[in-house]
Amino acid sequence: MPDLLLGQTLVFDADPFAEGPGAARHDAHGAVLIEGGHIAALGPAEVLRPAHPGARVHDYGRALISAGFVDCHMHYPQTGIIASWGRRLIDWLDRYTFPEEMRLADPAHARTIAALACDLAIDHGTTTFASYCTTAAHSADAIFEAAATRGLRIIAGRTCMDRNAPPGLVDTPERAAEETAALIARWHGRGRAGYAITPRFAPTSSPAQLAALGALWAAHPDCAMQTHLSEQTEEVAWVAELFPAARDYLDVYAGAGLCGPGAVFGHAIHLTARERAHLARSGAGVAHCPTSNTFIGSGLCDVAGLKADGIAVGLASDTGGGSSFSMLRTMAAAYEVGQLRGRALHPAELWWLATGGSAEVLRLGDRVGRLAPGMEADVVVIDLDSTRAIAQRAARAETLWEALFPTIMMGDDRAVRAVWADGRCLRARGVAPDQGAA
Ligand code: GUN
Ligand code: ZN
Repeated sequence: MPDLLLGQTLVFDADPFAEGPGAARHDAHGAVLIEGGHIAALGPAEVLRPAHPGARVHDYGRALISAGFVDCHMHYPQTGIIASWGRRLIDWLDRYTFPEEMRLADPAHARTIAALACDLAIDHGTTTFASYCTTAAHSADAIFEAAATRGLRIIAGRTCMDRNAPPGLVDTPERAAEETAALIARWHGRGRAGYAITPRFAPTSSPAQLAALGALWAAHPDCAMQTHLSEQTEEVAWVAELFPAARDYLDVYAGAGLCGPGAVFGHAIHLTARERAHLARSGAGVAHCPTSNTFIGSGLCDVAGLKADGIAVGLASDTGGGSSFSMLRTMAAAYEVGQLRGRALHPAELWWLATGGSAEVLRLGDRVGRLAPGMEADVVVIDLDSTRAIAQRAARAETLWEALFPTIMMGDDRAVRAVWADGRCLRARGVAPDQGAA
């Protein structure tokens, strides 16, 4: 039986960075018809409701129906160390991250954390995410299995590191390539899963490992490739020492065949003009991780400038370097970073980064990230008055954007009224009993 979701709908026809806020359409009394895991139709409730009398109706009233959030860069193994105090990137990795990733050597612990990470994503309205794993192959199996059980779309990859990490976490170029190839065979394209070849970052991979992974990507070009780029100044200086022949940080990856369409570079803050031009030409994308960048003290990413250069940018929690599982909170941080750079991102731009923008970076823009007929039925329903503080501000709003912005700035998982993934309702609250399951 089809499901008919009623509420305010927010539909993006284009990228608001290019087209302005008019790229989004708002219907105060809209409807989304879901059938067979896909969006079958969109339109005014007064049209779709009588046209589909057999559909199960889910009336969300004044709540906002949007494409589910897409988090294009996170580290599920770091769930348990989110909000760890007092370090910058390299020390933070040594003090908190590597010890925690070593704990996932226990497959049972990896499964527990993978399940928790998926459940936290759903709690916060995230229906697609791209995650790093640890160097243990079973850590990738764990997150792919947890996502499949819940019907989430996922991109993930076993992290590869063969130096500058504790002995319990390092591999070799050969083992990294062999285990990655086996995981690609097992998971890439299976259900809603896609594989990302995942060198952690240049300092933890030898030139030989980067070259081996570049060759593997050339053999599997429809996989994603995810890594970190120019997050902190100390890291950029370290890369220059480790790779003296490279022109700059991006050149290390490009020289190994690790830059092109489907590459997702996390952070990309401290870039040279040459790196920006190369990124734009290459078709690679950037994952903007604003809560991480302020929390670890990395810097202020020039999102608007990257977009103006023609580089695809998505939004990412980067948990546990990022300090929130919420893409609403992440949008708020992106706004604050924009302000500090002198460019106030419009609510339409913020929402796009967290949905269609991230989907484009992951090369999933034809499947998720937008509400449109034929797209996969991943939906988040957002209450625009989820707390007293938000409600009193939203009550004065005269436009949708004014009504939405308090939730962007002050909202969290309490704003998430319902979550649908793959056409199934995974979370729902506040529903009158006569209106069905959700
Ligand atoms: N650079 C290399 N590894 C990491 C990581 O786990 N988190 C962040 N934020 N940056 C990194
Ligand atoms: Zn990261």
